[in-house]
Amino acid sequence: MNDLPLAPMTDAYTPPDDEMLRLLEASIMAQLARPDQQELKLLGYGEVTIAIAVPAAAPRWACKRMPPLSHVAQLRAYANHIDTYVAELGLAGVHVLPTRCHIVPSYPGRYVLILSQPIIESNQLGPAILHGRQPDPADPFLNAIFDTVCASASPRIGLDAQLANWALVDDNIWQIDVSTPFTCDAQGQPELDTSLVVQPFPAFLRPALRRWIVPPLLKRYHVPRLALLDFVGNLFKERLDQWVEPALEAANSRLSDGISLSEARAYYDEDARLWEVIYRVKKASRFMTNMIGGTYQFLLPPPTDR
Ligand SMILES: Nc1ncnc2c1ncn2[C@@H]1O[C@H](COP(=O)(O)OP(=O)(O)OP(=O)(O)O)[C@@H](O)[C@H]1O
Ligand SMILES: [Mg+2]
Repeated sequence: MNDLPLAPMTDAYTPPDDEMLRLLEASIMAQLARPDQQELKLLGYGEVTIAIAVPAAAPRWACKRMPPLSHVAQLRAYANHIDTYVAELGLAGVHVLPTRCHIVPSYPGRYVLILSQPIIESNQLGPAILHGRQPDPADPFLNAIFDTVCASASPRIGLDAQLANWALVDDNIWQIDVSTPFTCDAQGQPELDTSLVVQPFPAFLRPALRRWIVPPLLKRYHVPRLALLDFVGNLFKERLDQWVEPALEAANSRLSDGISLSEARAYYDEDARLWEVIYRVKKASRFMTNMIGGTYQFLLPPPTDR
């Protein structure tokens, strides 16, 4: 399935124009100032991005807004890194949904990076696809994802293999989540500008996060076994427990060092604890930002039962 030629939409993508993006950023700023009112058509609560369907009335694009920064050059470098990452994923055999990086003026003296993509119907996204099928270790969508992960994840290139990051369009699987470019240099050091990914956290914690917490977290995206373990563990969160054992069977057929059900469950439990801590720290950061009269630049989901 994954050997099919790229679907024609690769050439056909027309991104939103500057005016549309300016209006979008204005409505994002309005939403952030009033988080309880529904101003935007949200697609998801990202860890670092806000994913929005644009325009709300008749969506054509999925736009992912990163946190604002004052240095355009830094955003341009981050955007270039995403472009390089997408190109390298393509060379490694991963079909990435057409993605364009836009730098848009935000608050006075600040700019944001917004990624745009064609919008995909929700029934073409990974979670809906598996929810609509009988669990089966030979499922072609599942196996196309695992083939792609095993063929592409390497010390140089990583990818977030979780189910929610894949779409099935024109019989091809497409990776949709490229806002964090996972590449490492020849010494195995992540090339990611981690200053963006720590923005949701209180400023006093960011240096420690960048130094000790983020780099080891990035490792999982480069090792096929860890990416597959992450995929399988995440099925519990997606309420796809019935897919866990078939997915393990499919994963283990590719691994010399197989994953057991108890390892997948323990991994998920630990991950859920970590994300719960992260969620609480973000809530504290939002509280502190509001206390000093600022506007927290992220939307936090309602508490979830992980
Ligand atoms: N092109 C698209 N069309 C339709 N829905 C999309 C599209 N891109 C993303 N989404 C939806 O939005 C969700 C979040 O997008 P994405 O995976 O790119 O970022 P994220 O994982 O939330 O961000 P972060 O990297 O900050 O964690 C996806 O899981 C999917 O449900
Ligand atoms: Mg994602």
